[in-house]
Amino acid sequence: MSFPQQRPRRLRRTAALRRLVAEHRLAVDDLIAPLFVKEGIDHPEPVVSMPGVMQHTHESLRKEVRALADLGIPAVVLFGIPAHKDAHGSSADAPDGVVQVALRNLRDEIGDGLVLIVDNCLDEYTDHGHCGIVRGDGSVDNDATIDRYASIAVAQADAGADVIAPSGMMDGQVARIREALDSTSHVEVPILAYAAKYASALYGPFRDAAECAPSFGDRRSYQMDPANTREAAVEVALDVAEGADMLMVKPALAYLDVIAAVRAAHPQPLAAYHVSGEYAMVHAAAQAGWIDGQAVMLEHLVSIKRAGADVILTYAARAAAEMLGA
Ligand code: PBG
Repeated sequence: MSFPQQRPRRLRRTAALRRLVAEHRLAVDDLIAPLFVKEGIDHPEPVVSMPGVMQHTHESLRKEVRALADLGIPAVVLFGIPAHKDAHGSSADAPDGVVQVALRNLRDEIGDGLVLIVDNCLDEYTDHGHCGIVRGDGSVDNDATIDRYASIAVAQADAGADVIAPSGMMDGQVARIREALDSTSHVEVPILAYAAKYASALYGPFRDAAECAPSFGDRRSYQMDPANTREAAVEVALDVAEGADMLMVKPALAYLDVIAAVRAAHPQPLAAYHVSGEYAMVHAAAQAGWIDGQAVMLEHLVSIKRAGADVILTYAARAAAEMLGA
């Protein structure tokens, strides 16, 4: 008895057949563009380690967000670089702080046509560059820090943020922010939790862009050890229990197993952050003429979807949308 020969190549013969059987697709709808806005500059300043990325003025930010909306990109995530930094990051929750001003401007520009996500953390606002309140011995005070995050979240929601995204990896931050939002008439503002965020060396270019490299020590006492996956399960389950509406794994490519595990365990929408170093590496290799940068970028982004992410925060959002829309 003979069986028909299995020939998987039958379904790869033409581009149309391949398109028909594609299991995952990268779409403009999947993309979230991270954007930087800096206080006190007259012209946008390019970030050298991230080709195509700018520190925006309020005016250039407005234009960029308009262009992204016109391309069909559904969301941006905002990071602010204040003119003044201090130990408590006091401009982070000031009503006239750089991100709050940007949120009001953008709401004005775009209405409800695009989702305004805002990063909630302290590192861009503190003079020491840590994501929290630092004690005399250099350690980060968890509970004092989440009180600050709560106050920042309320200022961000007051300024019109659609989604608050806490990235500091403090224990209990989601519950504390939820409580603060609920008690200030922001019950409808969702939380996108940076649930499993690793202490990664891939954040280097971001720290240039956001001017937030820690002035001493590192972030390993709050961000996760790259060696751990079960710990990610603990972190994510806690954020879900605390009321996270959406989840995030960060970085993306070196953590595709974590993305797949979170996808399998939780029904909430799942984001992956394709971080600055992941973006910079592709550009650097492409500039050297060693890889086709556009092709590698799209391959990386679809692999993040294949692992199970619903949406991707990526500095390649605009370029990818232009390629996908063409
Ligand atoms: C912290 C924050 C960081 C990133 C996003 N939010 C920096 C850090 O944790 O050191 C990094 C993102 C990237 O590398 O693209 N506010």
